Amino acid sequence: MSTRKISELALLGLIGTSLFGLTACSPDIPVESPVGESSSVASSALAGKVTSQEEGAMEGVVVSAQREGSPIIVSVVSNEQGEYRFPQDRLDAGSYAISIRAVGYDLASEGSVELATNAATLNLQLTTTRSLSAQLSNTEWMISAPGSFEEKQYFDDCTMCHTLQQPMTSRYGPDEMAKVVQRMGAHTLNSTPAFPHFKSFVAEMLSEPLTEEEIDKGRYFSGINLSGADTWQFPFQTLPRPSGKATQVIMTTYDLPRPNSAPHDALVGPDGNIWYNDFVSPYIGKLDPRTGEVTEYDLPVPKPGFATGSHGIDFSDDGLIYATGMHQSYVVEFNPNTEEMKTLQFPHWQVDNAGNDSRVTVLDPSAKSVNGQIWVNGYKGGELGVAYQVNPETNEWTEVTHPASAPLHNAYDVVADSQNNMYGFNMNREHVLENRCQNVRDQILSDTNTRRRWATR
Ligand code: HEC
Repeated sequence: MSTRKISELALLGLIGTSLFGLTACSPDIPVESPVGESSSVASSALAGKVTSQEEGAMEGVVVSAQREGSPIIVSVVSNEQGEYRFPQDRLDAGSYAISIRAVGYDLASEGSVELATNAATLNLQLTTTRSLSAQLSNTEWMISAPGSFEEKQYFDDCTMCHTLQQPMTSRYGPDEMAKVVQRMGAHTLNSTPAFPHFKSFVAEMLSEPLTEEEIDKGRYFSGINLSGADTWQFPFQTLPRPSGKATQVIMTTYDLPRPNSAPHDALVGPDGNIWYNDFVSPYIGKLDPRTGEVTEYDLPVPKPGFATGSHGIDFSDDGLIYATGMHQSYVVEFNPNTEEMKTLQFPHWQVDNAGNDSRVTVLDPSAKSVNGQIWVNGYKGGELGVAYQVNPETNEWTEVTHPASAPLHNAYDVVADSQNNMYGFNMNREHVLENRCQNVRDQILSDTNTRRRWATR
């Protein structure tokens, strides 16, 4: 993963909403004098105060403005006095829908404002929400739900593909819930309720008897969902809102045109465009952050019936874009200038066994010019991941082999240095694999169970 990439966390920030978007965040906006003083009002496009009957002036409320017809949403956060302010250069004149985010609250009346060239003022009144459960984040569900520490660990397996709204709002009793849990394990990791993908061995997996763990998860989740009553039998605990310096941010969010888009990685190109790949659908996209305009390019689907979606995307040092095709098992080479796409099919693309399909996950083409090779991580069906050196000219995939003494490894992220040496980062142990000039040296940093799986140059 290169340093040019926007933090994955920032991208995932919107997963709780039905529409995935791309979010950019600029921290440390200089503190201006409070709203109400003429100097700051003059430099604002829109400003006002957020209050509620319960709290009076409210700090840490996210206030968002979206111009009619525009995919760009600009958000700011209210300060200790409850004041929010959009700088003059962030909002053009036009008709804006205003929304807020403050757990436990809704806007008292629908927010909209007409902005002319003069600074506008809009005070926002919040009321206690009537649907707190719909606003809870995964963390808030986890801290609210009753259960031992061991039971709460189960949540960890349920947040990869959707939010905890799915299990918490379900009405399944223990037996049905255990079957749902078994079915979850048959989905590929790039599955969402809008785009469910199953592993090719789904029929066999679902005819297996339930494991003890699946039965226990069924018991636990059915004890805290809506199977026994119309509402939850435990109080909701919410997290505090941002305060102090944490309120000094401006976030810009870009709606993507396809509903249920799921950007996985994003990088800023030399032309200032943001390039991203979609984790669940076969597209890569180009977003112009100045206008919000998006162009999407179809990825090939050589394995119909298998999960689609891309996992890794990066620029090579000669300006081409490379993206992996996950279960479709390839790397594409894309020329952003000519818009030509070439497929580099993984040699083991048709190996599917033991409930796992072949797949290609991450890559690093950033030092390609050194020797014409890029680094790619691939999985033959059912086996641990293997790092490959791939020559995009010839589509030759050379497997990295390890000394017999090397510990069991599963390099997840593969990172190239300026000489195109590769460093592989193990999934479950602190284990760095160094591949210098094809002489592999396995180096174990420590043998703990941490997940040092991403690295950066
Ligand atoms: C690998 C991805 C993935 C994981 C991990 C996952 N889910 Fe799901 N979940 C899905 C998909 C896709 C759907 C919609 C399709 C379906 O119901 O099979 C779904 C739907 C659901 C539903 C609604 C089912 C219905 O019949 O209405 C529940 C409840 C649920 N998940 C609970 C869980 C629980 C509990 C866990 C953790 C043990 C979990 N999920 C983990 C992908 C996943």
